[in-house]
Amino acid sequence: VENKEALIERINYLRKKKNAVLLAHFYQRGEIQDIADYVGDSLELARRAQETDADIIVFSGVRFMAETAKILNPTKKVLHPNPESGCPMADMATVEGVLKLKEEHPDAVVVSYINTNADVKTISDVIVTSRNAVKVVKALDAKKIIFVPDQFLGSYIARQVPEKEFILWKGFCPPHFNLTPDQLLALKERYPDAKIAVHPECNTETVKIADFVGSTSQIIEFATTCDSKNVIIGTEIGLKHWLEKLNPDKNYIFPVNADYCGTIHCCDMKKNTLEKIADVLEREINEIVLPEDIIEKAKKPLDKMLEIV
Ligand code: 13P
Ligand code: SF4
Repeated sequence: VENKEALIERINYLRKKKNAVLLAHFYQRGEIQDIADYVGDSLELARRAQETDADIIVFSGVRFMAETAKILNPTKKVLHPNPESGCPMADMATVEGVLKLKEEHPDAVVVSYINTNADVKTISDVIVTSRNAVKVVKALDAKKIIFVPDQFLGSYIARQVPEKEFILWKGFCPPHFNLTPDQLLALKERYPDAKIAVHPECNTETVKIADFVGSTSQIIEFATTCDSKNVIIGTEIGLKHWLEKLNPDKNYIFPVNADYCGTIHCCDMKKNTLEKIADVLEREINEIVLPEDIIEKAKKPLDKMLEIV
């Protein structure tokens, strides 16, 4: 097997030769974050994908993120390191189910989390990410919202925008769902000065005790700049790498729970590896291919989001 240095050298050679850009989410392995051209939350990555003038986008994240890159910049070749890397929450929402809700609530608009598959995006009125959801929902004229698929992000938005009515799809993120308020409170007892920052995909009871709720990069900004040295982080363990790189003087505490792979760990995000990145770049395999009409219809609600924020 090729060692890490040789792999990185091969990736660097290939991305230069082929004018490729490597975009990576914060939940990717540390060694991928270290060599990415850009690391960000899902909104920042979508914008980068839309704006890039590279010929090839290698998107190291889960499939809906690579699909979003293709939809926003369809003339580019988008390569996904591992086709097995999907998002279980995105898979919880179906077109049939959403159409049924639309029928039951004809006066509602469909607001879909970016964590949805392309087919669900085609029947959505607007897309949101955890970073901009509250702002986008507030900006809509509609009073009634069907929110798909994350019930916890949905109820977080509903609490911030009480003047609107919400019909929530009952999806959830399995890794974030398991984090309980008790785990955070036990850590707070050990580190009384600590601030608690969580992702809105955590369950409602957990979100309610946090000092800060935001997207992955908003959590990073809060944790690295807030005035306490100890910060308890309620999101996927991949963030630890970037936090320690940005501000190593602080202590980032990730809850540990023996019941689920130790910490909040997204197995799908970790399916991408340096080997797979080198391989897709070399052979140009695992290209994201979507029918033209899907791209066209899914682009509308994404463009609408990008116009608002
Ligand atoms: P962010 O938009 O905060 O990066 O979240 C993406 C995600 O999948 C969280 O589980
Ligand atoms: Fe999907 Fe959760 Fe993994 Fe994010 S952390 S990609 S929402 S399963």
